[in-house]
Amino acid sequence: MIVTVTMNPAVDKTVEIERLLPGGLNRIRKVEYDAGGKGINVSKTIQKFGGSSVATGFLGGNTGKTIENVLKNQKISCDFVWVDGETRTNTKVFEKNGAVTELNEPGPVIADAKLLELLEKLDRLSGPETLFVLAGSVPVGVDKHIYGDMIRLVKKKGGKVLLDADGELFRYGLEAGPDMIKPNRVELEEYAGFQREASEKELLKFARRLLDRGMEAAAVSMGKDGALLVFPGRQVKCPALSVKAHSTVGAGDAMVAALAFARDKGMETEETIRLCMAAGAGAVTTVGTKPPSMELVRKLMEQVEISDI
Ligand SMILES: Nc1ncnc2c1ncn2[C@@H]1O[C@H](COP(=O)(O)OP(=O)(O)OP(=O)(O)O)[C@@H](O)[C@H]1O
Ligand SMILES: [Mg+2]
Repeated sequence: MIVTVTMNPAVDKTVEIERLLPGGLNRIRKVEYDAGGKGINVSKTIQKFGGSSVATGFLGGNTGKTIENVLKNQKISCDFVWVDGETRTNTKVFEKNGAVTELNEPGPVIADAKLLELLEKLDRLSGPETLFVLAGSVPVGVDKHIYGDMIRLVKKKGGKVLLDADGELFRYGLEAGPDMIKPNRVELEEYAGFQREASEKELLKFARRLLDRGMEAAAVSMGKDGALLVFPGRQVKCPALSVKAHSTVGAGDAMVAALAFARDKGMETEETIRLCMAAGAGAVTTVGTKPPSMELVRKLMEQVEISDI
């Protein structure tokens, strides 16, 4: 069973407008709403793959209900902790000339009792068959050790963890020994303390060092430059697949979903690599963070070039 944890979900609101007039009346041409947040994106992608997951984390107010409805309509199981206040709405305003203005809400403040409730839920869900995906930022005021705490809790009961976070959340999370990670280049460079762009060789060396501490997989994504994928018995570089780019946001989340799905299904390393690369590229072809179709992902899987390094 896969459980995705989204501590800071959001309704993503996309607005299209001719030209934004600050201080004036703006008439919206088109508006779209979607359920967002990294863990939720992962759940949606796993669903597209034909797999299933339980989505948990915090939801609040009417926006929270909207997110739950969107997920339930997609047949994704929800087991959220309901909190006081309103889940965030993040608005992206697209102008005809290509300019994008973002308006992000702060989201609810999480009471200690609610945090405890979430930890108890994870404890209940955890077991040798459970793979947790901890992804994305956390609400304001939540301690940056939270993912580390969750990892320790889950591992005590034999569960597995895939961590996708940055900065201190990543650093403290790593100390607790997650089973899989998917940092992008910048996240790994920051963690490793590089003051400049690291070479692929350096990134690989660092990922390998993390694996030697007992990890099962480290996928270092490098955007349009592809990815380095490191497993105990194999390390590879794959160039990015050539696709018509629409939005690169969420490409990493799709790769995380692929790693989790492949692990849950017990896929061989080769197939896991192909799925990771195809999922990332597929996500780039879709609008916003929308997951790619399985039909496209299958086609892309055949095109993945794998170089052992
Ligand atoms: N422009 C692109 N063309 C083809 N493939 C891409 C492109 N951008 C990303 N990808 C694929 O998706 C993978 C993940 O992308 P990226 O490294 O941007 O993740 P990320 O920074 O974690 O993204 P996010 O957190 O926004 O989801 C890359 O390793 C690559 O395989
Ligand atoms: Mg990412």
